[in-house]
Amino acid sequence: MSTVIQDSDSRLDLRQVAKHFAGDDTARPVLDGIDLSIASGEFVSIVGASGCGKSTLLRLIAGLDGEFEGAIDFAGQAVRTTDLARGIVFQDHRLFPWLDVEQNIAIALKNAPLSRDQKRRAVEEHVALVGLSGFEHHFPHQLSGGMAQRVAIARGLVNRPRLLLLDEPFGALDALTRARLQRELQRIWEHERITMVLVTHDVDEAVFLADRVVVMRARPGRIGRVLDVGLARPRDRSDARFVALRDEILGELGQL
Ligand SMILES: Nc1ncnc2c1ncn2[C@@H]1O[C@H](COP(=O)(O)OP(=O)(O)O)[C@@H](O)[C@H]1O
Ligand SMILES: [Mg+2]
Repeated sequence: MSTVIQDSDSRLDLRQVAKHFAGDDTARPVLDGIDLSIASGEFVSIVGASGCGKSTLLRLIAGLDGEFEGAIDFAGQAVRTTDLARGIVFQDHRLFPWLDVEQNIAIALKNAPLSRDQKRRAVEEHVALVGLSGFEHHFPHQLSGGMAQRVAIARGLVNRPRLLLLDEPFGALDALTRARLQRELQRIWEHERITMVLVTHDVDEAVFLADRVVVMRARPGRIGRVLDVGLARPRDRSDARFVALRDEILGELGQL
């Protein structure tokens, strides 16, 4: 079954994207020659060694950094700055300690063209979507790591973006919580039918979730290979094809 939506509504196109940091005295760019097209509703994972430029690439797609060469188009429009249509979730949840769950999610709606009542309803829906109903008035220090990360995901989704970027969102969680949130993220992706790009150092997670896995090489950050996963969801991590694909990617990364 293909989950890819056949329209250009949330299609992402990167053409010959390159990035240098100002003041970086090495001649080599951090990113070079990145060509990648992601279809509407597709789930793509990006894996690669630490420092190969994954977070830099995600920041460019988010529009948090407009200094790059090449072209990044989302839904047919050039990306140069942030937009409510593109949400991002980081490894550290970045919640405000003095705001409760509801307020931490609502803060993302500050610039949304919605009435107070619509905002209240959007927050309520997204609290429920990430399974936190009943915890609306808890503060970050009263939440487990997994719950805080769910709040960050709700905040990333509350503007109903058409693209969600996730930078190692489960990297700081224990294995059990991570597995649970991976299943939940898949459910959310199936429910919302939006495009997702997940950066992860966990190859198992990349294969579990994605339609395609992009393997990046370091110095300069380039796309090494793009692998189609092609397994039915939910995926069985002990399935021979799952294991073979995971091992192939680990081999690509030089970890075998
Ligand atoms: N603001 C910055 N200024 C200079 N160099 C940076 C900056 N941010 C990242 N880098 C460098 O760019 C490279 C890629 O970093 P990053 O995108 O964070 O990698 P990854 O997320 O794959 O671990 C690293 O060598 C890092 O030191
Ligand atoms: Mg990173």
